[in-house]
Amino acid sequence: MTASYLSAWGLSGPPFDKDLDDKELWLPPTKAAIADEVVESVQDRQSVLVTGEPGTGKTCMTRVVRHRTSQSAFRLTYCHNATLGRRDFYRQLCLALNLPMAASAAGLFYAISSHVKDLEKERIHPVFLLDEAHLLHQDTLDHLHILLNYEWDQKPLLSLILMGLPDLHDRLSLRRNRSLLSRIHTRLTIGPLLPEDTFAYVRMRLARCGCDRELFTSDALAFLHEASQGQMRDIDRLATAALRLASRSKRRLVERDQVLRAVQTNAPPDAA
Ligand SMILES: Nc1ncnc2c1ncn2[C@@H]1O[C@H](COP(=O)(O)OP(=O)(O)OP(=O)(O)O)[C@@H](O)[C@H]1O
Ligand SMILES: [Mg+2]
Repeated sequence: MTASYLSAWGLSGPPFDKDLDDKELWLPPTKAAIADEVVESVQDRQSVLVTGEPGTGKTCMTRVVRHRTSQSAFRLTYCHNATLGRRDFYRQLCLALNLPMAASAAGLFYAISSHVKDLEKERIHPVFLLDEAHLLHQDTLDHLHILLNYEWDQKPLLSLILMGLPDLHDRLSLRRNRSLLSRIHTRLTIGPLLPEDTFAYVRMRLARCGCDRELFTSDALAFLHEASQGQMRDIDRLATAALRLASRSKRRLVERDQVLRAVQTNAPPDAA
C-alpha cells in the first residue's frame, strides 16, 4: 500500500529509503574522487583506510567500489561484524569465503592465508573489506598486519579496506598499531556533503521516484543542509519527515518551517 504522503507528492515510492541499486548510487565530485582513489589503490594491490562520521556514505562507497572492480580479477569479501575477538573474526572470514572451519585460531588463519595464495595462482586478487572497523577488538587489530604478510612480506597478495568512524584513525595511530598503519598506503576521509551537493542529492532522490519538479524551496534545502550537517542519513530522515508534515498541511511545497518542525519532532527529548 502506498503511504498517503507519497501519493500527495506524486512519488512512486519512498524517495529517501536506503534500498538503492548499485547503479543508482550517486557521488558528488568530492566523493567520486575518493571512490577513484579506493579503486586505484585496490588495482595497485594496496590497502586502504576510509574514515568518516556516521551516515556520510562509507558503506555505500564500498558498493560503488564493488561495482567498479573487475569481478574476474578481484574477489571482494565484505565483513561487517567487527565486534568479534580474533578467533571468531577469522571464523566469520572463513564463513564469508566458504572455507571449511578449523577448530583453532591458528587453523583458521592457515585456511585463510592458503586461500589467499590459491587465489594468486588463479590471478585473482582478494580484497577483504572490513566495515565498522573502529569496533575491531585490539587482539584482531594486533594480528591484521600478519594476514598481509606473504612470501617474507614481499608479495602484496591481499588488500584490506578498513572502513569506520574517525575513531578508527585515532586507534590506528596508536603506537601499538603502527605495524598495521604503516602497511596502509591510502588513507582517506569522507566528509559531509557540500551545500550544493545536498541540493543535488535531494533532486536525485526525488527524480528516481518520478518527480522532476522542485518539492523543497531553496530556503528549506539550505536549512535541511544546515540541520543535517551534510550527512546523508540525516538528510534522508529529515527530508522524509518534512515531506510527511508538509503533505498533512496540504502544502504544495516543503518550506523551511516544515524542515524545522521535522528537526524538532526528531530531536531527542533533552535537546535544547
Ligand atoms: N552514494 C550514495 N548514493 C545515494 N545515497 C547514498 C549514498 N551514500 C550514502 N547514501 C545514503 O546515506 C545513507 C547512509 O550511508 P552509509 O550507510 O553508506 O553511511 P556510513 O558512512 O556507512 O554510516 P555508518 O558510519 O553509520 O555506518 C544510505 O542509507 C543512503 O540512503
Ligand atoms: Mg556504514
